[in-house]
Formats: sequence, structure tokens, C-alpha cells
Amino acid sequence: MNTRMRRAAVAIAAGAMAVSLAACGSAKESGDSADKSDSAAKKGDDIKVGLLLPENQTARYEQFDKPVIEKKVKELTNNKGEVIYANAKQDATLQNQQVDTMVTNKVDVLIVDAVDYKAIAGSVKKAKDAGIKVVAFDRLAEGPIDAYTSFDNVTVGKTQGEALLKALGDKAKDSQIVMMNGSATDPNAAQFKQGAHAALDGKVKIGREYDTKEWKPENANANMEGAISALGKGKIQGVYSANDGMAGGIITALKAAGIKNIPVTGQDAELAGVQRIVAGEQYMSVFKSYPQEGQVAAEMAVRLAKGESLDGLANDKVDSGTTKGVPAVIVPVVSLTKDNIKETVIKDGFYTIDQICSGNYKAACDKLGLK
Ligand code: BGC
Repeated sequence: MNTRMRRAAVAIAAGAMAVSLAACGSAKESGDSADKSDSAAKKGDDIKVGLLLPENQTARYEQFDKPVIEKKVKELTNNKGEVIYANAKQDATLQNQQVDTMVTNKVDVLIVDAVDYKAIAGSVKKAKDAGIKVVAFDRLAEGPIDAYTSFDNVTVGKTQGEALLKALGDKAKDSQIVMMNGSATDPNAAQFKQGAHAALDGKVKIGREYDTKEWKPENANANMEGAISALGKGKIQGVYSANDGMAGGIITALKAAGIKNIPVTGQDAELAGVQRIVAGEQYMSVFKSYPQEGQVAAEMAVRLAKGESLDGLANDKVDSGTTKGVPAVIVPVVSLTKDNIKETVIKDGFYTIDQICSGNYKAACDKLGLK
């Protein structure tokens, strides 16, 4: 479990000072003392940022995270900074090799969203030993990381669990649900699960629960088929799904079994998820501001590469299984249902109404007044 300690708002003023000191080449690292092999310090704008994302079946990574980070790095470096990108496609061994390649290629800093938060620790250490700072992105990687940004992941799970209870209403206490958690190699999955259990335990019967290998929709689909045959098709009143990708696989299994109109949760506000919400097939998703998270990660990376302090930016601290007091930024989340599509994904420019309401979704959009 991560403990978070709030820092005084005074850090903002200190941060401004640290930045100006950094310009004179005398900045100190925030958190633990600056490491000896600090070859990244005193860099100008011509920095190389290695960006490692975990998979590409979930839309967010290449649709939002990657372009947001690339844009922000350019912005913060007068267009001189470069992002070198690798996607591990759910393969932890491949991701370790990708880190090694980036270390060999002498990137100035790494932003890593780990496939497997434990398996990555050795590579983080290698980078660190080569004087390359590491920002853990979205998932809290183990090893000597320098900074971390993510969403409030326990709250994500709680938000999903509470929404499912709300959808079940008075019938919750007589209802049985199936829980489809994320991958056991993802520390966020454990936090989503923890938050969801905090909301659901004792309020509804949990008939079956699964950790889903590699977060794959097809694995969620197979597990859902298993749950339906084990519990009986009239005996499932709702499904907790940790994300939208898996909700897609789950809803396919429900439809194939002729189960209709039961609430299914999700996360990520993927276009397909939002469309299923419009059509009434999925009850909710969790809207997370990828621009906010990505911009913070880019800023952390650029500052670290230049040897600047994170003061004034990273006002939280987290502990990982191996590293204590990591400077962190935790971004809040919003529950997304058919009632706040305009105020979330449309307002923040994730999608246009035309994109959501294309083809078969037009009639459902008209009904919701989405125009
Ligand atoms: C992310 C989710 C994503 C999931 C699968 C989690 O670590 O926080 O946004 O759906 O991984 O990639």
C-alpha cells in the first residue's frame, strides 16, 4: 500500500526558487539526495526522453498518452526535445529489453508505464546506474524511480463499485455480481480491486471473481462465459469490469448468452465504451484526464533531464514496495455515465458528438439529447 503525505503549499514558492537556481547550475534534487552519476544535470533543451508504454490494445496509450507527452516535451524544450517511443505489447521481457536499448542509446530520462511492476525493477536500477532518471507513469514501478504520476486508483475502484451499487439500487442486497479485475502484474489493478471491494463488500453477493491475464478483452470474455455457465444465466445481476476494453469482451459474452440490461462498469472513457454507454449496454466508465497526467509526466521528465527540482510540481509523495518518499502527482477522476457525457469527454475534447453518435448510435444519442 502506498502512503501519501501532503506537502505544504509553500513548496510552490520553493519550487520557483529551485528552478531559478537550476538555471545557474546549482540545483539540488528534491526528495533523496542527487545521485553521484548525475550526467543528466545541466542539459539544455536538446534532451532525449524515452517513453515506454505497456500495451496497445487499450486505446488510451497511443490515442492520448503518447501524443500528449510528445507535444508537452516539445513545448517545454523550444521544440528541441525528442521523444523516443517503445510499446511493450504486454510483454514484460520485451519491455526490459526496450529499457536496455534506451540506456544504450543514452536517453536523458525515461518515462515508464510498466507491464509488470516488479519485473521492471532491475531495468530501472540499470537506468539509474547509468545516470538516467526514471518517471513511473500511471503504474508505480518498483526500483529506484525518481518521480511518479497517476490517478487516484483506489478511488477509481471505489467509483466503479459505488456506481454499480447505484445502478442495482434497492435490489443490490438480493443481487449477485461477477467481478472482473485487471492484470495481477499491474499495481493499479490491485488498487482498483481494493477500492471496488471497499464499496461492494457486504452490499451485494460476489458470485465469481477473476484477475484477468494481461488485461485482455478476450480473457475477460472467456472468464465471463465461465461465470455464466457456473452461476446460471438468470443469476447474474451486474458485472464489475475494471476497464472498458474488458467490458467489451464481457458484454459480448452476456449478449451471446441472451443476458440483457444488466449494469456493467468500465474505465478509460474509450470511444467504444462511451458508445456502449449511449446505447445502454454499459452503465459507466471512469473519465481520467489523460492530458493532465501526460503533461505532468512530460514536465517531470524534462525537469529531471535538465537537473531541475520537482518542487512546486510534485506535491505528493508515495512509497512503492522498494522506494520510499517518491515525489508524485495524483490526478483526480470522474464517474462517467450517460448523464455527463457532454461535461466530460466532449468538454475536454476527447471526442466530438459526431464521433460518438456515428452510424447506429445516432438514435440513442438523439434520445439522450446529445446533439
Ligand atoms: C490503467 C488503465 C488501463 C489498464 C489496462 C491500467 O494500469 O490505469 O487506464 O485500462 O491499465 O492497460
